[in-house]
Amino acid sequence: MKVLIIGSGGREHAIATCVAKSKRVSKIYAAPGNAGIAALAECVDISVMDFEKQVAFAKEKAIDFVIVGPDDPLVAGCVDAFEAAGMKVFGPRKNAAIIEGSKAFSKDLMKKYDIPTAAYENFDNADDALAYLETADFPIVLKADGLALGKGVLICNTLEEARAGVKEIMLDKHFGDAGNRMVIEEFMTGREVSVLAFCDGTTIKTMTSAQDHKRAKDGDQGLNTGGMGTFSPSPFYTDEIDAFCQEEIYKKTMAAMKAEGRDFVGVLFTGLMITEKGTKVLEFNARFGDPEAQVVLPRLKNDIMDVLEACVEGTLDQVNLEFEDNAAVCVVLASDGYPVAYEKGYPIKGLDTFDDKEGYYVFHAGTALKDGEVVTNGGRVLGVTAKGEDLVTARANAYEATKWIDFDNKYMRNDIGKAIDER
Ligand code: AMP
Ligand code: GLY
Repeated sequence: MKVLIIGSGGREHAIATCVAKSKRVSKIYAAPGNAGIAALAECVDISVMDFEKQVAFAKEKAIDFVIVGPDDPLVAGCVDAFEAAGMKVFGPRKNAAIIEGSKAFSKDLMKKYDIPTAAYENFDNADDALAYLETADFPIVLKADGLALGKGVLICNTLEEARAGVKEIMLDKHFGDAGNRMVIEEFMTGREVSVLAFCDGTTIKTMTSAQDHKRAKDGDQGLNTGGMGTFSPSPFYTDEIDAFCQEEIYKKTMAAMKAEGRDFVGVLFTGLMITEKGTKVLEFNARFGDPEAQVVLPRLKNDIMDVLEACVEGTLDQVNLEFEDNAAVCVVLASDGYPVAYEKGYPIKGLDTFDDKEGYYVFHAGTALKDGEVVTNGGRVLGVTAKGEDLVTARANAYEATKWIDFDNKYMRNDIGKAIDER
């Protein structure tokens, strides 16, 4: 079986690593891929948004199965383009990926189908949003409706801040057209958990849980980033909470999307907040999380192609999804200055140390090949993942492995997974 993976981040490297383990796969292509994926796949320089070129390439190479990684192409209809060409493709269609592409849509869906989430109002003009703020409680959360690289959420402590936030999103268009509409919602406190699930339109099967660390600095300080590290499973996501979420969130969401004529096939990512008043949905994404995939996929026991194919064929109910009874921690090695300004092009040393180490992975996020050498090429450069028999061991292993890698301006958080000590 020949597989094409669309994307170029750490998530796609984790997917490629899993696909490469499948006995059913003879050849992997990636568009555009990255320097790490290139060790497993033939990378072709086609942008994630150029669906026409992707489909033509897939036809030329007689690709049997396509996997779409990132949100932008999913929300813009990448899966629809491959389906129109008669190809097998894993991911939600445009009409289902809207669950991530429009926060106003996903909030209205949850309200309509009684899925627990923060109280909210949607707005399509700044005057109404500003008027609403006059009587609101603080802190309050402002969200640009559309995709904003994970940065379109503002937590505002005062009326002043919230007024400035509405201006930023809806008038100054800091997040572009993503700010044509916005959601204003209740601020929740609690423990955050990410739960990814395979979906075939009818059946939803959850993977092992994970937790992301979104802020740039230790102690959850600094700016929001794409994610500075993850651990899996989350000890805070108990069996009791899982039982509640299965009935009240995951199954209801699948049924809701079907009832709306938007059957969801692919990975549904539910961002949860475990509050004192119960567990509620923070957000839905229509894809694997990044860097959640880097701790979840290495623990998957199934042949991933069996699972992905069952999703596309509508036979997920027949799959016995299994994860290893261990833990994994991923520490992101970034370029100092991320997420604001940082330099690129520094040679990366020590990557080959991982070659013969069972249970250790170095996933490339922002790297490039320059004169045969791997160099830094982004804010988030690498994701160093290690497994262990429990979270404490996995964390010690991951931090040990971060020492094997060296590049100029290397920066990481030193407290990934530290929350597990607070239990
Ligand atoms: P989102 O992109 O919706 O996941 O939001 C990004 C981050 O903002 C989340 O991971 C939370 O840390 C925070 N956040 C979003 N919505 C809320 C909320 N209603 N209450 C508190 N924090 C929130
Ligand atoms: N790690 C959060 C995300 O993938 O959106």
